[in-house]
This record gives sequence, C-alpha cells and structure tokens, in this order.
Amino acid sequence: MDIDEAYVRWAPFYPPRSHNRLMEVEEHALRELLPQLSGRSVLDAGCGTGRYARLARQSGAASVIGVDRSRAMLRQASASDGRFVLADLRSLPFADGSIDIVLCGLALMDVEELDRAIGEMARVLSPGGTLVYSTLHPSGADEGWTRTFETPLGRHVIPSSWHSMRQHWDACEAAGLHVSHHREPAIDGRSPARPVALVVRADRVG
Ligand SMILES: C[S@@+](CC[C@H](N)C(=O)[O-])C[C@H]1O[C@@H](n2cnc3c(N)ncnc32)[C@H](O)[C@@H]1O
Repeated sequence: MDIDEAYVRWAPFYPPRSHNRLMEVEEHALRELLPQLSGRSVLDAGCGTGRYARLARQSGAASVIGVDRSRAMLRQASASDGRFVLADLRSLPFADGSIDIVLCGLALMDVEELDRAIGEMARVLSPGGTLVYSTLHPSGADEGWTRTFETPLGRHVIPSSWHSMRQHWDACEAAGLHVSHHREPAIDGRSPARPVALVVRADRVG
C-alpha cells in the first residue's frame, strides 16, 4: 500500500488527539518545547486531522493554518481548529518569513527529502520564529521498526523514510535554523527503555 492509500484508510480512525502511547509521550515532549503560541501565527505542517492546529487554537494563537497533502485526512479536521489547506509541506503556499511558529507532528517519516521539508518550513518562518517538530526516533531504522495502523479491516503497514540524527541536525543547519532543544522520549515502563520519538525545537537565526 502506498502512503496516499494508507491515509485514505487511516483517516476515519485518526482522531485529532494522541491516540496511542507513542503519541502521548511524543506530544508531552513537544509541548515542553513549545514557545508561547498565544497571539502568534501558527502553521501545522502535515497537520493530518489537525491535532496540533487544535492545540494552537486552544492556546490562543492569533491565526492557525493546517497544511496536508491528504484530502482524506483534511476531511476529518474541524474548521473550528483552524483553516486547512491541501498542499505539500515541501512546497508551502506561503510567503517567506510570514509565519511565527511552525509545528510538524509525525509527518517527516513520510518525506524522503528531509532537507527540502525542513528548508521549506524554515523559509516561511519569520526572523526569530520557531519550528517544533517530531518524528519517530531515528534508531527505529536500525531496529527494523515497521510503522503500522489498525482499522476494522486489520493491521496495515505504512512505508517510512528514515533519517539519522546527523541528517536532522544538518538539515536544520542548512536551513538557517539553530537547534536549541531536543527530546528523545521513551515509553514509561518498557524495558529496556528506548527512545521512540525525536522532538526538535529549532529557531530561525536572523
Ligand atoms: C502520521 S500523520 C500525523 C498527523 C498529525 N500531524 C498528528 O501529529 O496527529 C502524518 C501526516 O503528514 C501528512 N504528510 C506527509 N507528507 C506530507 C507532505 N509532503 N506534505 C503535506 N503533508 C504531508 C500525511 O498526509 C499525514 O496526514
């Protein structure tokens, strides 16, 4: 199954909130790294059904836009959480420097060209703006993780693009972003405790 088809199947079962243990620890870590959202313009890139758009709206953001390339996922998003646009995060339909904060939750495993995605999210950030993103932890590549989701028809595999820590840091640097914080949350109680996600805060330099 290709990625587009996977999201068509997944969308009806993908509520705009954390709905598994990995998402819970990922969201907890991402919230810790957030700058103030109140009064700021926020883009949720790869918004899916609008989980982080909703968080931005509830946090008092001045404007909230969600972008996703899956029509099926966007159809599940709620207009009360923001304005949602069908677009590719590798080619955002926004002017340079026009957005204060870009959030990107668990979307970069779908993107082979990490540099291009991070470069594009950095391009739309205003000077001093902040990108906060999460992805599956790069160690998953070595450990042979398979990304799956469940529907009433069973368990489905979704293809993943893996990027090393070095590729993340290099992509941020090349995009003119300074990585100020990162987190590698693990799921409590699992032994051995292994990080399941990488969450990065990067500020636009200049
Ligand atoms: C696993 S879902 C995460 C959704 C949401 N951000 C969340 O955290 O709940 C990944 C989303 O990224 C979107 N996506 C993947 N590649 C994309 C791209 N190049 N441009 C826009 N959206 C993309 C997918 O369509 C999907 O809705």
